[in-house]
Amino acid sequence: MLRRSVFVLSLGVLAPAAWAQAPDASAPPAATTPPPADAPAAPPAPAKLDPKKLVAPKSSPELLERGRLAYSASCVVCHGEKGVGDGPAGLMLNPKPRDFTKEPFKQGGSPAELFVSITEGVKDTPMAGWAHLSEEERWGLSYYVLSLAPPKVQKAKAKATP
Ligand code: HEC
Repeated sequence: MLRRSVFVLSLGVLAPAAWAQAPDASAPPAATTPPPADAPAAPPAPAKLDPKKLVAPKSSPELLERGRLAYSASCVVCHGEKGVGDGPAGLMLNPKPRDFTKEPFKQGGSPAELFVSITEGVKDTPMAGWAHLSEEERWGLSYYVLSLAPPKVQKAKAKATP
């Protein structure tokens, strides 16, 4: 006990909180481990989102700009800057990211449907879910992805979606 107090005294200046919490002098507090760097990609969202129940916020230049920034940070690597699917990491994938500028959206192309694809990912493809991005970012991404598709493609997917 005496030894411990001497120890505490000498170390007290350095780590008073850690020592105060140590239950037993023979088990010195573990060195403070730094928190894990980047959290791993979010696991797939447990509940399936229903695009029909989602209320899409209005598009705005600010929202689109958020989407543009998030797209260059997270999506360009596969989908390519213009959305044609020519990102360096996309070229080796199976299936490859499709060409947003030419083919209708397979998972539906309304803002809410895009929001679901982006949040939950696309089953059986390398497209992961991005639920860890803020909701605003995901809506911004939905509108930004939509803006990459010319009106003709946007209309085509509107028809393809029930
Ligand atoms: C690892 C590569 C990769 C990354 C990173 C990635 N995607 Fe994908 N994405 C894919 C693949 C592969 C598919 C499935 C094939 C397809 O539909 O293009 C897909 C599908 C999609 C679809 C559905 C397309 C459809 O036809 O309905 C959307 C929307 C989409 N991605 C948006 C995004 C957004 C937004 C990001 C960034 C937050 C992103 N993706 C990041 C590879 C990726």
